[in-house]
Order: sequence, then C-alpha cells, then structure tokens
Amino acid sequence: MPVNLKGRHFLTLKDFTPEEIRYLLDLSHELKTKKRLGIRNKLLEGKNIVLLFDKTSTRTRCAFEVAAFDEGAQVTFLSNSQMGKKESLEDTAKVLGRFYDGIEYRGFKQETVELLAKHAGVPVWNGLTDMYHPTQILADFMTIEEHVHKPIDKVKLVYVGDARNNMGNSLMIGAAKLGMTFVGIAPKSLFPDPALVAQMEEVAKVTGASISFSEELEAVAGADAVYTDVWVSMGEEDQFAERIRLLEPYRVTMDLMRMSGNPDVIFLHCLPSFHDLETAVGRDVYEKFGISEMEVSDEVFRSKYSKVFDEAENRMHTIKAVMVATIGK
Ligand code: CP
Ligand code: NVA
Repeated sequence: MPVNLKGRHFLTLKDFTPEEIRYLLDLSHELKTKKRLGIRNKLLEGKNIVLLFDKTSTRTRCAFEVAAFDEGAQVTFLSNSQMGKKESLEDTAKVLGRFYDGIEYRGFKQETVELLAKHAGVPVWNGLTDMYHPTQILADFMTIEEHVHKPIDKVKLVYVGDARNNMGNSLMIGAAKLGMTFVGIAPKSLFPDPALVAQMEEVAKVTGASISFSEELEAVAGADAVYTDVWVSMGEEDQFAERIRLLEPYRVTMDLMRMSGNPDVIFLHCLPSFHDLETAVGRDVYEKFGISEMEVSDEVFRSKYSKVFDEAENRMHTIKAVMVATIGK
C-alpha cells in the first residue's frame, strides 16, 4: 500500500511503521537534491505554521522556518504564549488549530505535545521533549545513508553517553524500526527505561534489529557510526556534578573511535556540543570541574570522522519532508 501521511501527527517514531520512516527518508533525500538544483515546488504554499518553544533552540527553529520559507509557507514563532500559564493546553490547542495548518512544539513533557495533538485538529510535530526527539533521528539516519555505504539495516550504530535521554530513547526506537544494530554504551544507571527497551525488542523481532546495552567501551567494536549527546540535557542543569562523575569515562575520544576497528567509522552528534571552552556553559564547567571537553574531544569533533555539520544541515531537509508529508500538496 502506498504511504500516505497526510494529516498525521509526528510525536514519536514509535507511531510510525518502517515503511513510513523509509518514505520520510526518501522524501528528505529528494528534497535535498531539489534544493541543491534550485528547484522549488511550493509544496507548502498557502500554509501557516506556528512554532511553540518552551526550550531554547538553534537548529530546530531555523530548520522549520527555512523549510517552510523554501516551500512557500508562513511561520509564527511563539515562545511567550499564554499556554500553561493563563490558558490551558487544551484551549491553546483549539485556538491555534483554528489559525494554523500545523503546530510544532518543543518543551518538557511528552504529555504536552500529546495533549496539543489531541485537541488541535491539525498535525502537531514534536520538536523535542524530555522523552523524544524524533525529527532529529530522521536527520541522523539521512546522514548515515549519505556517509555509510551499506543498507541502513546493515549499519551498527553505537550511542555512547546518557542512554536514557531523548536522544538515547529516540535513536533506539529508530534503529529498532529500521532493522539496525543498536548498541548503547553507558553506566547502568543511565540505561533507558526497561519498559521502552522491552517494547523495542518486540519491534526488533519483526524488523531483524538488534538492541543491546553495555557498560564497556569495547562494545564499540565494529561500529559504523559512533553517536553521542550532551551529558546534561535541557531542564537537568542541576545534574552536572553527578553526570560528569558518571560519564567522564564515556567521552568519545580518538582512542574510542579507533576501538571501533573501522577506518571508515563516522562520528555523529545532534548538537549543540561541549567540545571546547568556547561556550559560557563549557567555561563554567571548566572552572567548577576542571574539564575542558565533555562528551566528545575537540579532536574527534573536528576530525575527518565527524559528519556533524552535514547532520545539522539535514535537520532542515528532514523537517521539510515531515511538513510536506503531513500538510503539503
Ligand atoms: N539538535 C537540535 O535539536 O538543536 P537545537 O537545540 O539547536 O534545535
Ligand atoms: N539531549 C539534548 C538534546 C539537544 C538537541 C537535550 O535535550 O538538551
């Protein structure tokens, strides 16, 4: 059956079949090629979208805006609405649904984006919650397809770091859906929720994926892609001391990249990243804890293995695909 995502929400990849995710990736590659060739099809012409942000962003906001502009949509950016303060989520969703053709939400609870979706009457897209970051995964997998020259279901993706954050959860879900080999390397206390792992193991039985977790760095052997994320996610800023204590042994260094045994291994990171002292947070951590790099060494970040800026660009092409698929012509 042909894939049709018109009118669908995009809240977590758990809601999508492997075929639907494949469709979104194919559309992303196609839209990237078209943009490079200067072809614009006005696929979102006449559409209005609203971007609700309760957390900060560079890539996600800009990706939604540029993707919308490229295809002829109009955008409202809203970070100081009445929502949750003077107006309920339900009422806000009902109001915005009357104005807009699609709603993006970035914030804390997954329940918030789900409530918006329940009441808006138009597609709602998750731009990151504490639980999931599904648009990021499309960009990550698109980047893997560009740089790892084998079918995605033959790829071994190794995630190192906070394996129970939105990125750890979402990469595991995406990998399970697409039949990949996914290894999470983390201290046991940062393994994901066993219920979510069990759910993905069920998916893996159908797709042929392999999902495993290890506390040992040696589990990186055979990786095609090594992925990490910040040790402290947005909203957890009181956790720095504990996370540094837990995760320092898990920094992605050149030694770790070499332990993959794969000369063509790539390095991925959703960004932003603490790999030097060029950020206020990085300098603050240096003063308090004496470390100048957190989740990845500056050497790896700037190395030939690193595809992080292709990955960042791909946020735009993949978010465009999500909007075109759900509300486009
Ligand atoms: N990767 C990502 O979501 O980046 P932003 O926080 O800048 O949107
Ligand atoms: N885990 C990170 C991802 C940022 C894109 C956070 O939630 O802050």
